[in-house]
Amino acid sequence: MPTLIIVGAQWGDEGKGKVVDHFAAHADMVARYQGGNNAGHTLVVGGEKTVVHLIPAGVLHAGTTCVLGNGVVIDPKVLCGEIEGLQAKGYLSDPAQLRIDERAHVILPVHRMLDVAREAALGERAIGTTGRGIGPCYEDKAARRGVRIVDMLDPRYFADALDKILSERGPLLKLYGEEPPSAQEILDEYAVYAERLRPYVTDATQVVADEIAAGKRILFEGAQAAMLDLDHGTYPFVTSSNTVAGVVGSGAGVAPKHVGRVLGIAKSYTTRVGAGPFPTELEDEVGAKLREVGGEFGATTGRPRRCGWFDAVVVRQAARLSGLSGIALTKLDVLSGLPTLKIATAYECDGERYDRVPASVPALTQAQPIYEELEGWTEDLSGARRFEDLPEAARKYISRIEQLTGAPVTLISVGAEREETILLRDPFLL
Ligand code: GDP
Ligand code: IMO
Ligand code: MG
Repeated sequence: MPTLIIVGAQWGDEGKGKVVDHFAAHADMVARYQGGNNAGHTLVVGGEKTVVHLIPAGVLHAGTTCVLGNGVVIDPKVLCGEIEGLQAKGYLSDPAQLRIDERAHVILPVHRMLDVAREAALGERAIGTTGRGIGPCYEDKAARRGVRIVDMLDPRYFADALDKILSERGPLLKLYGEEPPSAQEILDEYAVYAERLRPYVTDATQVVADEIAAGKRILFEGAQAAMLDLDHGTYPFVTSSNTVAGVVGSGAGVAPKHVGRVLGIAKSYTTRVGAGPFPTELEDEVGAKLREVGGEFGATTGRPRRCGWFDAVVVRQAARLSGLSGIALTKLDVLSGLPTLKIATAYECDGERYDRVPASVPALTQAQPIYEELEGWTEDLSGARRFEDLPEAARKYISRIEQLTGAPVTLISVGAEREETILLRDPFLL
């Protein structure tokens, strides 16, 4: 089955973009199926950095069709900007390379305003969202008053749908002291986006189905990660979409029989951006070193990422939830020079041992990781291209991760560049 789902196995920013770009050379299509421009996927090719928030990370390969599935929430202003930015760099010259599903929901200015206003009102208790309007847009979708791409393209229907949203959201925004834009202002602004995006809009589920029927290679690119999943993550410090692999079914309209292999992306340590429990967080000089060496600053908001040791409890849970057939272990190069490394194998909380991530926020907040110590290495790994090129201590670290998570490491990333990769097994053949 030539489909592969790529998902984050921690709290996001594991290097999904890099891995998708790496494989996209051999893929006919890359499709996003959830999330929106809260994602920031960084691609580095020949020293040039490109960050994509909405457009799939396969876009740098002209022969790879990129799809925004129905489960994605689309801020058309951001999408138009991203298309222009990529075109200015010489990418995406053929509009047929990008397909946008007509059923994807649209992020409106009121969604962004509400996201930011709520977070400000929460103060200390804020979630630390990206402020992109993701939560409020998915709320309107679930409340059956959302605006979809197909609705945005039809001015009369759009006006009516917008009226429904504004009559709910307008008074709420006023409670937060914000004045929403008028319906006419939004209609005028979005009419411009609608015309720009119209050539790309289609029933993308059919496009994906046709590719599957033709036996083409398809990558499904996840955004966010297991611990940010609306159901399975560290609720309420999560995003507003489901992120586990099974969501490809609803978010891109793909039947379960067509998907099998799932590659989880995990950083060789752990990071989290935003608030919420993080058992292996390091608020010391080791955490600061990981942040500095790993360049751990958000690709979307620029916020410093919280850093900590590799948490096998988290990745084991992700492996179970998404049925990981393999793990791509990224940023191994960043660990060089640390004399010892720690891996959390379980948690202890109120004298009780947890082999899984507890659902209770107080339990998870108090959880003390049970660590295992491993020897570090000093060698620069960025030139390694085969498993044998890695120092013995690094190889032992990898095999311990495999044992603790129950998933084989099938790719190792030793640098941000496309080529700084050790491929152990073809992920399409796992
Ligand atoms: P994503 O959201 O999962 O796609 O990840 P991000 O792009 O937000 O964050 C990952 C960061 O690490 C980006 O800046 C990448 O360029 C960088 N990166 C990815 N893989 C590696 C690696 O193996 N080593 C190093 N040093 N950087 C990497
Ligand atoms: P990628 O795809 C890391 C986090 C936010 C916040 C929470 C909710 O690049 O891995 P939201 O704006 O979604 O309502 O914020 O989720 N978050 C991410 N953290 N990487 C991401 O995406 C994220 N997308 C959302 O920081 O804690
Ligand atoms: Mg990111």
